[in-house]
Amino acid sequence: MSFPEHRPRRLRRTPAVRRLARETHLVPSQLVLPMFVREGITEPSPIGSMPGIVQHSMDSLRRAVAEAAEQRIGGVMLFGVPEVRDAVGSGADDPNGILNRATEAVVAEVGDAVVVQTDLCLDEFTDHGHCGVLRDDGAVDNDATLERYTAMGLAQARAGSAMLGLSGMMDGQVGAVREALDAEGFTDTLILAYSAKYAGAFYGPFREAVDSQLKGDRRSYQLDPGNGREGVREALLDVEEGADVVMVKPALPYLDVLADVKASVDVPVWAYQVSGEYAMVEAAAAHGWIDRRGAIMESLLGIRRAGADAILTYWAVEAARWLRAEL
Ligand code: PBG
Repeated sequence: MSFPEHRPRRLRRTPAVRRLARETHLVPSQLVLPMFVREGITEPSPIGSMPGIVQHSMDSLRRAVAEAAEQRIGGVMLFGVPEVRDAVGSGADDPNGILNRATEAVVAEVGDAVVVQTDLCLDEFTDHGHCGVLRDDGAVDNDATLERYTAMGLAQARAGSAMLGLSGMMDGQVGAVREALDAEGFTDTLILAYSAKYAGAFYGPFREAVDSQLKGDRRSYQLDPGNGREGVREALLDVEEGADVVMVKPALPYLDVLADVKASVDVPVWAYQVSGEYAMVEAAAAHGWIDRRGAIMESLLGIRRAGADAILTYWAVEAARWLRAEL
């Protein structure tokens, strides 16, 4: 026998062969852009820890969503930053609350050229910054929070949101919101369950983006970073409760969970490349320490390869532009 007997390098020899041999592809429709809209501003306001990302005014949000639709990305995920907060997050289910007004405006602008999605969680709207309402002892009250989520879900559906992103990690949230939607005739409103959402350091810049009031942490409801099987369990429960799509978040530190969830469910699986993942690449690139475009595209492709059918990423529009130019 003469060696080498096998020559896998043949498949890497030329750009044409490499293109043909590539296993995983990324297209603009697989990208969803998270966007922030802030009440009471007339000009977009930059977010220091997320260079290139802004808190939008109502007008700049409408324009940016139209631009995103032109690049044919799959969707946008809206987050509201209210002027006034309270203990129960009243702005969340107020039809005149910032997120609900923005949803109406965006849907009026783009219709269903992109899938308009909304974050369904109380943390942006509470004065303590937690994702739910608190008991007297300060603990997050799961079942009382579900009542707030169903009210918020109905308000978002009425505002025209096509897909509700349940990101609060309360037990039973998917089932409760699904039941409330169906009872009011919103049987077509989709539910994206942030099923395996891990507590950790990678949401840091997001807290600035939404002006978060949180003092403590979210470890009593978000997952422990050491637990992979528990992430799969959460995804299975959410599918059982009626989730149309399940999600793993953050993305890069949890690719194993993503692959395991993908192997365990029969609904689409998405991943959220979060604010801290964005900030790391932007900061290194700003120093000239990393090739920005290369790192962005490699991370997105890696998340796809691990099993994500679609990806929430702050680079959605820029990446879509690159992808379209390459075609
Ligand atoms: C909860 C929510 C958070 C993010 C998305 N939805 C914050 C949190 O759980 O602390 C974080 C997204 C990011 O970091 O990019 N409303």
